[in-house]
Amino acid sequence: MRKHVIAIDGPAASGKSTTARQVAQRLGFVHMNSGLFYRAITWASLRDGWSDDIERLREGVARLSILPIVEAGVLDVQVRGVRPGIALQGRDVSTRVSAVSATDFVRKRVLQLLRATAKEADVVCDGRDIGSVVFPDAHLKVFLVADVRERARRRLLDYQVEPSVEAIEEEAERLRARDDADSTRALAPLVKAAGAVEIDTTRLAPEAVIHRILELAGERGMRAPEG
Ligand code: C5P
Repeated sequence: MRKHVIAIDGPAASGKSTTARQVAQRLGFVHMNSGLFYRAITWASLRDGWSDDIERLREGVARLSILPIVEAGVLDVQVRGVRPGIALQGRDVSTRVSAVSATDFVRKRVLQLLRATAKEADVVCDGRDIGSVVFPDAHLKVFLVADVRERARRRLLDYQVEPSVEAIEEEAERLRARDDADSTRALAPLVKAAGAVEIDTTRLAPEAVIHRILELAGERGMRAPEG
């Protein structure tokens, strides 16, 4: 039988990964955070100094060994034998990742990795183009949105930074820039996929969002395993 896929897309810091992880855990699916692959490639390119030049980036990506690792129901990424982990969430990677992920060879590489992983397991996959390009036949597509200031506030709390008015405004500006780059690129831009259910999380608690998605999954025949 075809494995199940739940696609969760949305702008930066809209809560996709936290939500996807919880939904996957409760359904017994694997959580695939597609952004991790783009971040891993960006991280390697920054370390080696080939992020700025498109030809060097192309060659670097062609030679790069990058491996998905599924552990306890969560997908992690190994680049050249190491797992960068939290380093992938750093500001330098976040600033550069949109440009790197706008190239056709990077997108092709990540698409292959995501599809290969989803052949082996039921998955909840989050990103920007999951319902539109990577898994257009997903059993459920969700598009998460939230007010940019609320997203900035949540991101600062994740970084354990006091969410002052100024800090929120600065972070919101960074998020807007990334959303703008991701939405306006020619290849696989951030869009609400056909058939996706939009959920505005601005005023919703995380648990309410998870509950709503589990409800939608249940309506489509995907339920938590018994016991
Ligand atoms: O989800 P996250 O913020 O970690 O994604 C980092 C970046 O990776 C995004 O800003 C975007 O440029 C890229 N990305 C993408 N397509 C996806 C997932 C992420 O282009 N499906």
